[in-house]
Amino acid sequence: MQSEPGNPGSVGFIPLCVPQIQGNEWKYLKECLDTNWVSSVGSFVDRFESELAAYIGAKHGIAVVNGTAALHIALLVAGVTTDDEVLVSTLSFVAPANAIRYVGAWPVFMDADPAYWQMDAVKTLNFLETECIWENGQLMNKSTNRRVKAILPVHILGHPCDMEPIIEAARKFNLTIIEDATESLGATYRNNKVGHLGDIACFSFNGNKLLTTGGGGMIVTDNQQWAERARYLTTQAKDDPIEYVHNEIGYNYRLTNILAAMGLAQLESINYFIAQKKAIAGRYNNAFSPEKDITLMARNGDTDPVYWLYTILLGEDVELEYRKSVIRQLNQQGIGVRPLWHPLHGLPPYAGCQAHRVEHANRLYARGISLPSSVGLELDDQDRCIAAVSQAVQQ
Ligand SMILES: Cc1ncc(COP(=O)(O)O)c(C=O)c1O
Repeated sequence: MQSEPGNPGSVGFIPLCVPQIQGNEWKYLKECLDTNWVSSVGSFVDRFESELAAYIGAKHGIAVVNGTAALHIALLVAGVTTDDEVLVSTLSFVAPANAIRYVGAWPVFMDADPAYWQMDAVKTLNFLETECIWENGQLMNKSTNRRVKAILPVHILGHPCDMEPIIEAARKFNLTIIEDATESLGATYRNNKVGHLGDIACFSFNGNKLLTTGGGGMIVTDNQQWAERARYLTTQAKDDPIEYVHNEIGYNYRLTNILAAMGLAQLESINYFIAQKKAIAGRYNNAFSPEKDITLMARNGDTDPVYWLYTILLGEDVELEYRKSVIRQLNQQGIGVRPLWHPLHGLPPYAGCQAHRVEHANRLYARGISLPSSVGLELDDQDRCIAAVSQAVQQ
């Protein structure tokens, strides 16, 4: 697939979103090779953890093999366990729902708000107020009789969720907030960075993310106990490193020094990466603004998004098949576009799970197209994308 994470595609093809490698990546990687510090410990791991955490404003960072592993461990350290429930965005990549199942818990899917496409905070509060009840000090879902333990908002496409009502709801109902911030590194909500708005947060550094280590992830939190536990669980729950004593089931989830070296070098360029993403979004916004059949990506006034993946919606009444045909046509013309994710509550593994008043996510999926958004997207190539999209929607 030409639009798989980080795939540069063939000659003439404009990829969806590929890495920008421009700084100290070669130097730091060479240092790993020259010194033989290539594996799961090393100074680059420590530096990447502390510098990424500092960038977010968090006290602790724990580097892991990928964003999905970060979510898995974040759920474990937050105490989410078998038959708990976690409220999660239905319009999201599948990883957070899968991670919820890894710990034996169940997702309850929340709708996307129609204006900004993020987890609908109002409906989330409504679910808690109308569908849940306190029993013996625990918040129980009336229809499943399971304990509701956490909220997992996914900040999609480089834009933050409307966090204040989500934070208020979490306080009121004694829930933990686990942010999936993988797509919105660097974005802010009311001047606070995404990833430092809840209790614990996760990032991914796979091939199409703002920063890439090829594959990698990070857990960030201010909670020292949770950070220590995350470090313990991700290093095979090793209690005595000499005698191989493991008192719990652990995971081999630590990021290697080689990949952390790449991450650190990428982090040094983050301001440039974000400036480029914003410039790309600005040009798309200008180009499509008179276009009545295209809805632009709106910005919530409380946020400063990073526009990780610039996305448009086709006309309000379009059918799913039409959107699919536009994507096919653009891909055939060498423009690497892709749809939004199939809403998770409609996927076979989650068909039996509760979805609360979902009205908008399916329409967003039917209408949404993500456009080429690489940091290094040349002006000429962006013009080509704009022309091709404008032509495709007019047919
Ligand atoms: C919202 C979201 N969560 C989690 C992930 C999982 O990250 P990874 O691919 O590093 O496991 C991704 C991306 O792939 C994502 O977009």
